[in-house]
Amino acid sequence: MSSVLVERDEPIAVVLLNRPEALNALNDEVMTELVDVLEAFDADDAVRCIVLGGSERAFAAGADIGQMAEAGAIEMYEARRIDRWDSIRKVRTPLVAAVSGYCLGGGNELAMACDLIVASETARFGQPETGLGIIPGAGGTQRLTRAIGKAKAMDVILTGRFLDAEEAERAGLVARVVAREAWLEEAKSVARAIAEKGPIAQRLAKESVNRAYSSTLETGLDYERKALYLAFASEDAREGLTAFTEKRKPEFKGR
Ligand code: CAA
Repeated sequence: MSSVLVERDEPIAVVLLNRPEALNALNDEVMTELVDVLEAFDADDAVRCIVLGGSERAFAAGADIGQMAEAGAIEMYEARRIDRWDSIRKVRTPLVAAVSGYCLGGGNELAMACDLIVASETARFGQPETGLGIIPGAGGTQRLTRAIGKAKAMDVILTGRFLDAEEAERAGLVARVVAREAWLEEAKSVARAIAEKGPIAQRLAKESVNRAYSSTLETGLDYERKALYLAFASEDAREGLTAFTEKRKPEFKGR
């Protein structure tokens, strides 16, 4: 049985973690399959937004603790386990995390590696790693702090407490909270709305927003301006601007 389920419903694709017996804990197999699938969709022009979800009970309860308990530091370093996460960061296609239930440790880091999080009212977010004697290692200390600020990030990481969906939304971790039964459908409808817009513009906009986290304001503004000029050079920009003046719906081709 595949540890990642894939549904293609152009212009979107849905990828669901499928290791229910371990609440979708992210072992090597899950991560390898997930990265392969995301890279394949990212290379596919017909897919303009990807939804990444788990099950109703758990998005993912973290990295696989059993696997980590057996691994030595040098083995982890040599196997480049965490390096695989860089491939997710490099996905250009917008990624919507659909979170229901537990979203913990590496699971929360995976959701935060997506571009936005749509959460069920049942979602529970946390970074409980210090309770295991380790620390978040796939971006948790960095992305959570940028998302919710130092005070709350310290609270979550040092005490191990979980944020419910409402608090996570208030704190800025979650974009939208939706009803329990609608977690996947709402995420798909967000993805469809994203997929309707110009795909080159979406990728450039995603890169520019992410640049805000890694540069000064001035460098970020310069980057944004260059990205706008690049968008202007696309056929899609001609189409989008002309369609507005002609009072019709644009037909974007991703060129
Ligand atoms: N790794 C491996 N297996 C896990 C797991 C994980 N992270 N989380 C849950 N499971 C397994 C359980 O061992 C259990 O398996 P068995 O039925 O074979 O015993 C099954 O999933 C169901 O879990 P529970 O019986 O514990 O379910 P529960 O409803 O009582 O509790 C929970 C749910 C609170 C999420 C609890 O499972 C839990 O605390 N899980 C661990 C959460 C955690 O610490 N995550 C951080 C991992 S470290 C990390 O992610 C490092 C990093 O940053 C890279």
